[in-house]
Amino acid sequence: MTSSSANNLDTRPLLFTPIKICGLVIRNRIIASPMCQYLSVDGAPNDWQLMHLGRLAIGGCGIVFGEETAVEPDGRKTHNCAGLYKQSHVASYRKITDMIRSNGALPAIQLGHSGRKGSCHDAMRDWRALNNSDAENDLPPWQVMTPTAALSPPRPIPHKEMDQDDINRVVDDFRTATKRSIDAGYDIVEIHGAHGYLIHQFLSATSNQRKDNYGGSLANRMRFAVEVAAAVREEWPKQRPVFFRLSAVDGKGGSWTLADSISLAAALREVGIDMIDVSSGGITGSSNMPMVPRIPAYQARFASRIRHQANIGTIAVGGITTPQQAEDILRSGKADMIAMARELLWNADWPAHAAQSLGLDDPFSYLPTGYAHRLRQRESQKQMNINQDAKLIEKNFNFFLHASKSDSGP
Ligand SMILES: Cc1cc2nc3c(=O)[nH]c(=O)nc-3n(C[C@H](O)[C@H](O)[C@H](O)COP(=O)(O)O)c2cc1C
Repeated sequence: MTSSSANNLDTRPLLFTPIKICGLVIRNRIIASPMCQYLSVDGAPNDWQLMHLGRLAIGGCGIVFGEETAVEPDGRKTHNCAGLYKQSHVASYRKITDMIRSNGALPAIQLGHSGRKGSCHDAMRDWRALNNSDAENDLPPWQVMTPTAALSPPRPIPHKEMDQDDINRVVDDFRTATKRSIDAGYDIVEIHGAHGYLIHQFLSATSNQRKDNYGGSLANRMRFAVEVAAAVREEWPKQRPVFFRLSAVDGKGGSWTLADSISLAAALREVGIDMIDVSSGGITGSSNMPMVPRIPAYQARFASRIRHQANIGTIAVGGITTPQQAEDILRSGKADMIAMARELLWNADWPAHAAQSLGLDDPFSYLPTGYAHRLRQRESQKQMNINQDAKLIEKNFNFFLHASKSDSGP
């Protein structure tokens, strides 16, 4: 544990108060949020992810999430998305988890399935659907699955509407990927149930109008999410936490509401989910539901409502950029932890800087020992006697700048 634990418990910023979830102690409340990189090769991460996630770990986060990781090849969004659908992937993830842990953070994986949002280009190309001409460049489109094919935006290959076998198989894929995540050394697993991907497609009536046990009533639409969550929880060690990321509300024109999210969070708590990571959006439609404004901390109020009404821990994410804003979210009881994505791309050492700005005794302790040593030395240099006396400073610089050649030595 860092030196922050030596500070007075009442006055120590909550952001830097370690938190215990299940049997796991996390050094602070700052999470590096999942961030797709679109640089995996056949699902496997490489030196890029090692460097990118390593950079976040040494900056002082408590938890470092890897990007959304598909539980089956067709559950990726693009050909270059990460996956954990082969046993041979495990070794490349193990390299990353070892490195994150050895730098004081806990490694976390986000498991997901894209459903109807698969078979496309990456974010830089606005997720444009792959078509037959992409096949000439070794990027063939593939058939995507979804709860209700007729409601899905068109793809060159018509969607497959999932039957019971497909549903069972995907739940099983989550189970297998969970076991592989244990082998790969992760401390935390998160289920991606947000942003319009497969689980969210089942939740929202805008994308799900099935007539079987997985459509219609709220309980039926939640069934797939709860089955996945129960399967993951069953495989994951009890002393390690399972998180679930949901979209608190659909995107513009959608139908999934905050009240639905509260019901879902309560149901997830019942099957042993420890924390809800509260995002929003991803499914659009033609209702009068507005877009969520992108103001600072724009999803924190959703996290608060879910935390208090579903009685479960929450993570606030979205538009959090300043230490005081993060501290206020925790102090006001809106969330138990905060997650950040884009601000960490801008400033990967944000946690150490936040520790300084919130007045911690030794903010450098959040950085690697070698960095911390040199930075403490730089601080103590400011106190050297020679630096306190303006006349002496001037005299010494006069010596260097104006001394004749013979005065200044050979
Ligand atoms: C480059 C990038 C990639 C992202 N990839 C994922 C992802 O794989 N899974 C996910 O749930 N969210 C993903 N997100 C969303 C972030 O995790 C986060 O929720 C969102 O960016 C809002 O937080 P921010 O305002 O701190 O960036 C991504 C965001 C960025 C910027």
